[in-house]
Amino acid sequence: MMNNTDTKQIRILAIESSCDETAAAVVVNGRDLRSNVISSQIALHTLYGGVVPEIASRKHIEKINQVIEQALSDAQMTLDDIDAIGVTYGPGLVGALLVGVAEAKAISFARNIPLVGVHHIEGHISANYIENKELEPPFLCLVVSGGHTHLVKVADYGKYEILGRTRDDAAGEAFDKVARAIGLGYPGGPKIEKVSHEGNPQAIDFPRAKIADGVYDFSFSGLKSAVLNYLNGCRMKDIPINQADVAASFQKSVTDVLVEHAMRAIDEYHMDKFAIAGGVASNGVIREAMRNACEKRGVKFYHPSPILCTDNAAMIGAAAYYDFISGKRAGYDLNAIPNLKLGESGY
Ligand code: KG4
Ligand code: ZN
Repeated sequence: MMNNTDTKQIRILAIESSCDETAAAVVVNGRDLRSNVISSQIALHTLYGGVVPEIASRKHIEKINQVIEQALSDAQMTLDDIDAIGVTYGPGLVGALLVGVAEAKAISFARNIPLVGVHHIEGHISANYIENKELEPPFLCLVVSGGHTHLVKVADYGKYEILGRTRDDAAGEAFDKVARAIGLGYPGGPKIEKVSHEGNPQAIDFPRAKIADGVYDFSFSGLKSAVLNYLNGCRMKDIPINQADVAASFQKSVTDVLVEHAMRAIDEYHMDKFAIAGGVASNGVIREAMRNACEKRGVKFYHPSPILCTDNAAMIGAAAYYDFISGKRAGYDLNAIPNLKLGESGY
């Protein structure tokens, strides 16, 4: 089955269901995206101000078959054309992950197609391969999503060294919580970015969190508290709250910390390529700040299109390809691992 791997086109059907998007995609040789179907549950969870795990699982079950069928039909393929199935098996919501994992195992078993389990963060990082065909490790990657903030040295395909991570809230979580506090609703990131354009990023001097002992680690809960304290102070003193100024100043504080950490690591590790990934990486203000900082150092800057930053299966297909050609295979005992660590295979 593994002969001709070098010359043969490897067509991967990828499945992602770790949070609130049911997604399937077909990716050829890890870089050539043939289809990318995403069924978002955002509108549903907005009613509750955040993702409700039980509802997410139920929706995944309802949608997954049609999303996969659509991905195959958009790619003008059938399961007969597929060489491997890649599926996110962690980290994420266990009930949500299980839907994708069970589906992938069922197809793999029924059609005798090899199965590869993918780490969700590895997927986010690999989203950069799809539109940047020349990007190869080693490079530095900042993964900023709703659940994770990781500064990672990508030493090689599938080889990661975590330089820093959040001690408390993830960057996207901070966006979501601050958005809720200023009445913007869920999901916070895109809403904060939108209103920030009408605000002054220098209006309020929110803190830039420093961690003494873990030099590349992040902390966003202090910033979140500072925003909440500021809002309470305004309410108590009957001072009107300028939503756009709060949004712009908060976003500036997050941006400064992300840029500072990333550039310090680029300098220390002498990296000449830097990529961002994850839902927060679709933020235009953060991208521009990263681009400028990279340009000053002569470092090449990479980022996926917004649709490949937030959760999708294309990124899982890209990551699955490199696992597949390195010989990694999952058995039918593949399980969802909600707290799976990056670089730690659970199978
Ligand atoms: O990667 P993702 O889709 O899911 C996780 O793996 O967590 O990231 C979702 C997160 C949410 O917290 C959302 O608010 C944030 O990404 N996000 C943004 C933007 N778009 C999405 N944050 C800041 N600016 C944006 N434009
Ligand atoms: Zn994600």
